[in-house]
Amino acid sequence: MSTYHRYIVIALSSSALAVGTGLSLYAANAFAQQEERADAALNQLVHEPPTMEDLEASDLHPELKKVIRYGYDLFTNTQQLRGEYVFNDMNCSSCHLGEGRVPFSAPVWPAAITLPDFRGKNQHVNNLEERIAGCFAYSMNGTPPEYGSDEMLALSAYHQWLATGAPMYPDKPIYGRGFPAPEQPETPSYARGEAAYQENCAICHQEDGSGHYENGEYVFPAPWGDGSNNWGAGIARVETMAGFIYQNMPLGQPRSLTGQQAWDIAYYINSQERPQDPRYTGDVAETAERFGPTFHNRSLYGQTREHDGHVLGDHANFGEKGDIQPWNVGMPRFENLSEE
Ligand code: HEC
Ligand code: HEC
Repeated sequence: MSTYHRYIVIALSSSALAVGTGLSLYAANAFAQQEERADAALNQLVHEPPTMEDLEASDLHPELKKVIRYGYDLFTNTQQLRGEYVFNDMNCSSCHLGEGRVPFSAPVWPAAITLPDFRGKNQHVNNLEERIAGCFAYSMNGTPPEYGSDEMLALSAYHQWLATGAPMYPDKPIYGRGFPAPEQPETPSYARGEAAYQENCAICHQEDGSGHYENGEYVFPAPWGDGSNNWGAGIARVETMAGFIYQNMPLGQPRSLTGQQAWDIAYYINSQERPQDPRYTGDVAETAERFGPTFHNRSLYGQTREHDGHVLGDHANFGEKGDIQPWNVGMPRFENLSEE
């Protein structure tokens, strides 16, 4: 049994009740999701990505199969790039569960059929490589492999292959895309979030949010702190975090929390410190203002924590990455093109 699985068993069996509730909720959810998917098929694009077994059985060129397998390996064990392109404790699959193919866990194949497109976050047209580079720069607190490098080719091949059979530039919304947030009944509460986190999440992610690593092997990722994503990552927005949690956590029990609990916990987690945003200008208020309209108006970056007066993101700690700057952040593009 891998360390990872051993820990899940420990975590889940620590309370017989948790196992019972977890499994029956899981079964009920699987059924509800099947029904939901069937309904969605009427007016949304529902796509079932191929599996690694399908890859082996396919007629694709053996060289291409090798590259897709490598892309899969990088996606699910991104820690092999640690110290070169990755400077935190994450794998791509820490947030994109089920190898990047699970609905409501930001499946990654939609990027392959909707890009190139304009992206609000960086205000220009991005291709698939640049979208992947974005998750390296922010979610992995790293710096992306060069466009066209073996790593980038393998990762983009994996994304495109997952999209096999889905139409390019679809004219319907994509079922299960992103991390859709539940409704927010009341303003989120830090105190309620903290209590709910300690009750439902700390068993795996630790009370201090540092996650769990054992003998250099990844077990549970860190929702905050130096081992986590930086302040510029999509999941640093409270709504995105609430959606992630509601749809995916506790692990194996999707949609078992109430919407209010998911928002409260998201507010609590995103009120903790994490590595600095690579777009940092040297001043948190200035950075928050500059990237407010396109990003930080939905995060708590630059805001003052009520209970202790701490200003979030007011530091020059870039985590393990130190002063390495991701080369694609703030890169000007297409300035030579005319408006017409
Ligand atoms: C800390 C969490 C996290 C990690 C780790 C992470 N991502 Fe993401 N990723 C996100 C979020 C959040 C989004 C945006 C989801 C949304 O709201 O649409 C996203 C979106 C994407 C998309 C676009 C999906 C779409 O619907 O268009 C791709 C492609 C992607 N990520 C690839 C990667 C790759 C490759 C890695 C590893 C190098 C990675 N991500 C690591 C959180 C993460
Ligand atoms: C049984 C163990 C377990 C429990 C309980 C659990 N998680 Fe997770 N969580 C994981 C694992 C494992 C991953 C990474 C997914 C993977 O590798 O398949 C993860 C990923 C995450 C991530 C994305 C990566 C990161 O670290 O930022 C967040 C955020 C998160 N969990 C929050 C929560 C919250 C909030 C709760 C409680 C409501 C919770 N988790 C409960 C095991 C757990």
